[in-house]
Amino acid sequence: MSHADNNEGTRRDFLYYATAGTGAVVTGAAVWPLINQMNASADVKALSSIFVDVSGVETGTQLTVKWRGKPVFIRRRTEEEIQMAREVPLSDLVDVNAENENKPGAEATDENRALDEAGEWLVMIGVCTHLGCVPIGNGSGDYHGWFCPCHGSHYDTAGRIRKGPAPRNLEIPVAEFTDDTTIKLG
Ligand code: FES
Repeated sequence: MSHADNNEGTRRDFLYYATAGTGAVVTGAAVWPLINQMNASADVKALSSIFVDVSGVETGTQLTVKWRGKPVFIRRRTEEEIQMAREVPLSDLVDVNAENENKPGAEATDENRALDEAGEWLVMIGVCTHLGCVPIGNGSGDYHGWFCPCHGSHYDTAGRIRKGPAPRNLEIPVAEFTDDTTIKLG
């Protein structure tokens, strides 16, 4: 392989590598249509709940599933990631709303964003709140969470926007554990 090929390979990996982990992996810095969901009737929304088996998700990895036409990141966080997120004072945040459909209007503490009390599980719509690209995970960016390469938005280990043009934290959809290893979305 020539030097040029190498460079190109590296660059492509950087831009399109979205997730690690098992299961349905969505890649690509594509722009996801946001309008789609807005007009769906209540019954259509109810019908489109899905159950995700997270038994194979190791600590420190992320499963990405496609749901209602969008990627959803399901991350099993390490102790370090949880601790980093919990140490951040609200005054350091760009968006102080948890942006969590399960807790409307709550403050953007890590406790208000994690799915479980211990904070091990974080479930978020994987769409950058700037212009809709899919951020790269696995400790990316200046805040070791997610990084959107489209225009340089950095999200922390709780998926909160910390730097760059995105105005809001990554959105948290309606989600719950229905048993120890199953998360229901919607
Ligand atoms: S779409 Fe993510 S930074 Fe612009």
